[in-house]
Amino acid sequence: MIETKRWNVDTNKEQNERMIIEAANELTSGGTVAFPTETVYGLGADATNEEAVAKIFKAKGRPQDNPLIAHVATKEQLMQLVNDVPAYVDKLIETFSPGPITYVLTSNGTSAANVTAGLSTVGVRIPSHPVALALLRACNTPIAAPSANLSGKPSPTTADHVWEDLAGRINGLVDGGPTGVGVESTVVDCTQDIPIILRPGGISKEELEEVVGTVMVDPALLHADSKEKPKAPGMKYRHYSPDVPMWLVEGGSARLQAVYDELVAEGKQVGILANRNTLEKLEVQQSISLGESLEDVAASLYDGLRKYKQGDVDIILCETYPQIGIGQAIMNRLKKAASRYVEE
Ligand code: TXA
Ligand code: MG
Repeated sequence: MIETKRWNVDTNKEQNERMIIEAANELTSGGTVAFPTETVYGLGADATNEEAVAKIFKAKGRPQDNPLIAHVATKEQLMQLVNDVPAYVDKLIETFSPGPITYVLTSNGTSAANVTAGLSTVGVRIPSHPVALALLRACNTPIAAPSANLSGKPSPTTADHVWEDLAGRINGLVDGGPTGVGVESTVVDCTQDIPIILRPGGISKEELEEVVGTVMVDPALLHADSKEKPKAPGMKYRHYSPDVPMWLVEGGSARLQAVYDELVAEGKQVGILANRNTLEKLEVQQSISLGESLEDVAASLYDGLRKYKQGDVDIILCETYPQIGIGQAIMNRLKKAASRYVEE
């Protein structure tokens, strides 16, 4: 067990600055600190310090072959980590960074070998959360940061989620309140002539295409039974698993009610995850609302998945969402979190 310091940055400005400097000192001296980004909380360590980065893998129980994203505050710092940047990346940075997008580019070797898990490429992103940016500026070194959850669990969207998973395993936690987007950044392979989405996320395919024309999607993402090996190593692992099994149910509220009724008749305790309109049509005992819009669902999804604990319910039923805009990221995560897909 290590002592995990906790800084609460919703007080006054002067105190915030002091806390950010303390947290930055922890990072630049080789420690691990979790911090909010606009997507999910990240668990940071100095990306140029192999020993520090190793602590991230240990704290999360993360497979060694899964590379980390390097976080920086500016485009200049981003360019200091990579070679051979295609022209379309300038356009993407101009439009979407700071923001929920990660560029996979040829590494120039500045990042520690365990950041890239031995690959020749490195994922780099500029988060837009003011606390993340302040921390990155104060560190003045790239910070490697995966989502700040135990490997296999849903990503953390509040400081309490991080605490639940990692207290006693990391050096610090900067509490900046709930994150905004709620699903992770879009990971884009920018080493080819045409950008390729390796992980759908906060910026949708449609939004990318408005700026750079054609965008491809890693074939391994399109077919669950694909023989293709995903190009983002992290995408091959099951992920986001709640405490109890979750079934993803196609076919809207009527189908959800029918599956619910069957399970209840078998004596099961069932919890529902669905948006408000769906819940209004259901007759169920336990439910968590994910809000109304797809953006609401993205923001509240991981919290919803974490809320149902063993003992509360035997099974979670969640509805499916249209794969448009951020719906692509939502369905990608839900399919990974689900132990069963109930087709219409
Ligand atoms: O929004 C986010 O991206 C959050 C916040 C904290 O920034 N971070 C995050 O990191 O989601 P993580 O480690 O949970 O997911 C990173 C994903 C993994 O699927 C990983 O395999 C992929 O990005 N990735 C990282 N570097 C890569 C590379 N060089 N080539 C291909 N995929 C890479
Ligand atoms: Mg993760």
